[in-house]
Amino acid sequence: MMLLTILTVMFVAVSGNLNYIHSFDISGAEEEFKCAQSCKFTLVESVPENLTYPATAPIMMSTYKAHKRLLERVKKTLYLSSCYWTLLGSDTDYHDYSSYEGEDIFKNLYALASAGQVSIKIAQNNSNNDTGILKSVGAEVRTPNFEQLMHAGILHTKMWIADEAHVYIGSGNFDWRSYTQTKETGVLIEDCPCLGEDAAKIFEVYWYLGKPGSQIPQHWPPSLSTSINISDPTAVNYNNTKGEVYISSSPPPFCPSGRSNDIDAIVNVIRSAKKFIYISVMDYLPQIVYTEPRVYWPVIDNELRKAAFNSGVKVYLLASHWKHTLQDMYAFLRSLDQLHTARFHKIDIFVKLFTVPADESQAKIPYSRVDHSKYMVTDQHAYIGTSNWSGDYFKYTGGVGFILRQADEDPSNLRQQLVQLFLRDWNSEYSQHVYRF
Ligand SMILES: *[C@@H]1O[C@H](CO)[C@@H](O)[C@H](O)[C@H]1NC(C)=O
Ligand SMILES: *[C@@H]1O[C@H](CO)[C@@H](O)[C@H](O)[C@H]1NC(C)=O
Ligand SMILES: *[C@@H]1O[C@H](CO)[C@@H](O)[C@H](O)[C@H]1NC(C)=O
Ligand SMILES: *[C@@H]1O[C@H](CO)[C@@H](O)[C@H](O)[C@H]1NC(C)=O
Ligand SMILES: *[C@@H]1O[C@H](CO)[C@@H](O)[C@H](O)[C@H]1NC(C)=O
Ligand SMILES: *[C@@H]1O[C@H](CO)[C@@H](O)[C@H](O)[C@H]1NC(C)=O
Repeated sequence: MMLLTILTVMFVAVSGNLNYIHSFDISGAEEEFKCAQSCKFTLVESVPENLTYPATAPIMMSTYKAHKRLLERVKKTLYLSSCYWTLLGSDTDYHDYSSYEGEDIFKNLYALASAGQVSIKIAQNNSNNDTGILKSVGAEVRTPNFEQLMHAGILHTKMWIADEAHVYIGSGNFDWRSYTQTKETGVLIEDCPCLGEDAAKIFEVYWYLGKPGSQIPQHWPPSLSTSINISDPTAVNYNNTKGEVYISSSPPPFCPSGRSNDIDAIVNVIRSAKKFIYISVMDYLPQIVYTEPRVYWPVIDNELRKAAFNSGVKVYLLASHWKHTLQDMYAFLRSLDQLHTARFHKIDIFVKLFTVPADESQAKIPYSRVDHSKYMVTDQHAYIGTSNWSGDYFKYTGGVGFILRQADEDPSNLRQQLVQLFLRDWNSEYSQHVYRF
């Protein structure tokens, strides 16, 4: 009976009409599937127009430039994982001249799709005009139905993969505002097939689930499993420095064997910190927000309190304040921040909120002028993700994380650059202690 069950499961897994982008070489070479190449990593960000820093502050490559570069380099395949699409000014109620960068990205995607040389595959949360137009000129588009698959959640991943060698992971949406009006943080990985192929396996999960009527298979096929994960990150050489990397994914049912869950990655990064943990995340809520009644979800909150209390690790948390901030967030943030007032035990937890200023016309741009970043940097790791920090994102929603372990103090390594980026914002006039709100 037991054997029969196993055989049945195997049969389903092998014959279950899984429609992959291509078949993987699973000749046992997987064991050596490690980054021998020298990859190139660049920290990228969007700084909203008119958000200014002192002239000496670090500024990274722009998200626009990173996406443009991927479009210029791509030769064969472009896999885009996305939430909603509003690249065109006309996609939003209020038109602003600053949509030109998003429109330029769209124009390039359109030209690429029309030319027909590059196979463009788009996984999206829901249908929209932009991808409808791209589809009409040859892009393939799929929409995983989260309601059916997970009974909750959305596709929230923002990941570009060109030729399975160049990757963008970060908070930047397919939205003109993500280039000029919202603050975003991401990483551009170039000339790195080992990570590009690994990221493509995550895309293939969305692609499979985007076929109408798809269900989450009981066992994902071995070709989608990975050996690059939390317990076995791959060593990379990049820009003459060394690091260890893996890519995490959520929700857990979307993780084939070997793929680390995004929440496990976050907990591991927090637990590995020895000196400090700097977090910049748009929304921080120790709850499952989108259920009725709401459920308390202290997984990350507990880890931060423990790290500060037990290990004396300094925790700085920077969340975002804008007109749509859920009111509850302030109470939970104040609760965390309060710990630094403890008298008999030093608990170094401080919480601030970042506000992107807006002039009168900018204030009219809907869902804009906000710090949208979702990253964490410690004395050991850089973590760049796509998810807000509430339980929903890790239980139900599609998202990914890029995790780099790089404990050395070389000021040019990506982790150190992320530290500089964080401190620039933390110490800026745009960040205020949570007790001011
Ligand atoms: C705001 O930014 C735009 C675009 O960079 C620039 O043209 C404009 O002069 C800036 N306005 C102010 C008040 O600095
Ligand atoms: C995601 O898709 C669902 C289903 O179409 C839709 O209800 C929801 O509003 C979408 N969310 C976003 C952020 O696009
Ligand atoms: C497409 O654009 C039209 C007009 O601009 C708008 O009415 C419609 O709601 C859009 N559809 C989607 C799916 O965004
Ligand atoms: C990570 O991958 C290795 C193979 O490289 C595997 O043995 C291990 O079980 C994986 N770890 C997790 C947590 O999946
Ligand atoms: C999380 O992030 C998205 C954008 O990435 C934002 O629009 C949304 O309202 C955020 N907050 C929550 C609690 O979902
Ligand atoms: C890697 O090198 C490129 C130039 O070759 C540079 O633009 C980029 O900032 C570097 N990245 C890091 C993390 O040092």
